[in-house]
Amino acid sequence: MIRVFPQIENAKLMSLYHKGVEGQWSAAQLDWEHPLGLDRQGQQALGHVLTPVYLGEQTAMVGASSVIPQFFAARQTEAQLYLATFLLDEARHFEILTQFYHKMNQRPLEVRDLKEIFRYQARLFKSQDRIEWLWGILLSDIFARHFYNTLKTLHPGSLFAHIASRIVRDEVRHLAFAELFLGKILQQQPELSPSFLKMRDDLLGLMSAMSRGLKDQCATIGLDGVLLIATVADDIEKKVRRLHLHDPEAELEQDIAE
Ligand SMILES: [Fe+2]
Ligand SMILES: [Fe+2]
Repeated sequence: MIRVFPQIENAKLMSLYHKGVEGQWSAAQLDWEHPLGLDRQGQQALGHVLTPVYLGEQTAMVGASSVIPQFFAARQTEAQLYLATFLLDEARHFEILTQFYHKMNQRPLEVRDLKEIFRYQARLFKSQDRIEWLWGILLSDIFARHFYNTLKTLHPGSLFAHIASRIVRDEVRHLAFAELFLGKILQQQPELSPSFLKMRDDLLGLMSAMSRGLKDQCATIGLDGVLLIATVADDIEKKVRRLHLHDPEAELEQDIAE
């Protein structure tokens, strides 16, 4: 299995890896003196609304560590290298959000309130396969990107807006990698489509359930959860089309039903 001198050929994946290396930064480079821009109640609500994203940052880091050996076994060297930068990105996001909680002197949701969030993470990890994991990460990164961008717009000039605008730049790289890699795999294995679409339905359903569960806290900070999920669903649909994931037979049946 081990090859001392592996082939490194995919220039596009290597370019994303180089961008990942050159794009590294640290929490110390942020200006932590930005105002929080929310009263105590707003800060508590933000702490709760942020919980799924916060947990997602940590599980993305742990997930990457568990799939890197699979990419090694499949001799996909470029993906291993890229995922090493991804892992550090997610570690940094997790660390920065932890610091942000301390700065607000707030806590994430308690375990008893995390039912949907745990179900989401369980669905993400249900399959141990690296390709399906990458699809789940693509969907989660779309959610994270819209979440950060929406809050950035809602509270301009705040510390969270400052943090979000920096984190989103990393997430753009993550989305680019997942789309590039999955596009190639799906060309070779179009039979993966039904399970991908099923996972999309499951995860989108759980995202909606999480947002319903946090309705009051979302309202406190002016976040329209329904609109957020609709925007995420729209963006996911664009990826589904770009990756040619729709099953032609199912589409035909739908046309007839309409
Ligand atoms: Fe992240
Ligand atoms: Fe990410």
